[in-house]
Amino acid sequence: MVEEVVAATPPPAAVHAARGLGARSTPRRLAEISGDVEERLPLSIGEFARVLGGGVVPGSVVLIGGDPGIGKSTLLLQVALEMAKDLTVLYVSGEESERQIKMRALRLLRAEGEENPPERSTASEKELAIPERLFLVTETNLAVIFEHIQTVKPALLILDSVQTTYIQELDSSAGSVTQVRETASRLRELAKSSGVAVFLIGHVTKEGAIAGPRILEHIVDTVLYLEGDRFQSYRLLRSVKNRFGATSEVGVFEMRERGLVEIANPSEAFLAERMVNAPGSAIAVTMEGTRPLLVEIQGLTSPTSFGNPRRTPNGVDFNRLLLTAAVLTRRVGLRLGEQDIFVNVVGGISIDEPAADLAIAAAIASSLRGQPVRADAVLIGEVGLSGELRMVGQMPARLREAAKLGFRTAIVPRRLRRGEPWPNDIQIIEARSLRQALEHALLSDSNKGE
Ligand code: TYD
Ligand code: MG
Repeated sequence: MVEEVVAATPPPAAVHAARGLGARSTPRRLAEISGDVEERLPLSIGEFARVLGGGVVPGSVVLIGGDPGIGKSTLLLQVALEMAKDLTVLYVSGEESERQIKMRALRLLRAEGEENPPERSTASEKELAIPERLFLVTETNLAVIFEHIQTVKPALLILDSVQTTYIQELDSSAGSVTQVRETASRLRELAKSSGVAVFLIGHVTKEGAIAGPRILEHIVDTVLYLEGDRFQSYRLLRSVKNRFGATSEVGVFEMRERGLVEIANPSEAFLAERMVNAPGSAIAVTMEGTRPLLVEIQGLTSPTSFGNPRRTPNGVDFNRLLLTAAVLTRRVGLRLGEQDIFVNVVGGISIDEPAADLAIAAAIASSLRGQPVRADAVLIGEVGLSGELRMVGQMPARLREAAKLGFRTAIVPRRLRRGEPWPNDIQIIEARSLRQALEHALLSDSNKGE
């Protein structure tokens, strides 16, 4: 239960003035309304731009959510440094001092073309291209922040974070539902009336995001989440809502010593450490937005020492793992009843797509039988309860990506309807059932030489 204090409502005239609305609005004919695409402010960080659906739309409010320490401040400071090359940017922080931010900025700027680690860098501050038009301020009072916006007149405002900002006249503490929601709606009004683009940082709180980004999703135009395992270097920037572009678009970054670096070819990066011909590893092709992504799925089975066998997924859904294990037991006849099962998606990313079912099943079966999965094959398909293999969407895109990365075979569900032609630079093995697919996928001693 969260207490929410209701503030006295200001007179309606004041509300209108604050929202920048004229005295009255007039309905217009659809045909008379300009339908030109919004002009966007270009952004040179390509992976970020692709998630936004192009550049930054003036007057839009973008929420960037994520766990604490995942890299939100780093990413947005990088964006600020880039955008400030040709626009005025105001970076408001309620979490770090100006000095701290400056030091981080220096570290990020030294990144370009320097071999030394940031702390031993030889470049002096003067040699670095510190953008003239980037302003920093540590402030948590929204009224004061609005004053700063009046004086600096930025084209882009970055607020780090929405949870540390407060509105004085509200009776609750910073970070409460009322404060967070009201802060966001005032910033939205500001953005719509003045055309300044606003990036809001929001922490996802562990306790189910009570005063977190969730309650803001309907207020803002775009919601992005920065995800990843804190102990791994890859970060996925995912759009879950976007009024100006496609949703579920994903940008991939790697956290390095000098900030987040774009990974233009993520599949290659995710497969880099793969041990070819080791049992318990299979390659899945998932769609992240419009982009196919090849990931390695690892499975390990090990005899249960006492009590109930354990199922431990990392990066895949727990129920999906239970289902796959049940189908392997009942329809394929694997003896998993007294085996602990571990499944891991390499790179610290998580997959929620059923298209990875076949690869998950193959990784488990491969580990149990001690037979490796064919190294040159990708496995795509959803597994049904009867042990059948079901078709998944966007097959041609997945197959093309696999072929591009040098995979020569794809084990896929049988095609029942003819659609878009599949690429012919990859050999396609169609399987009706999980059992058949595993026969093709697993290398026994007799077909190892193939
Ligand atoms: P930060 O952006 O402060 O996270 P958030 O704002 O989401 O809470 O990122 C903090 C982590 O990033 C911290 O553990 C250190 C790491 N980091 C690097 O690895 N390299 C860098 O260049 C920077 C600036 C941070
Ligand atoms: Mg931060």
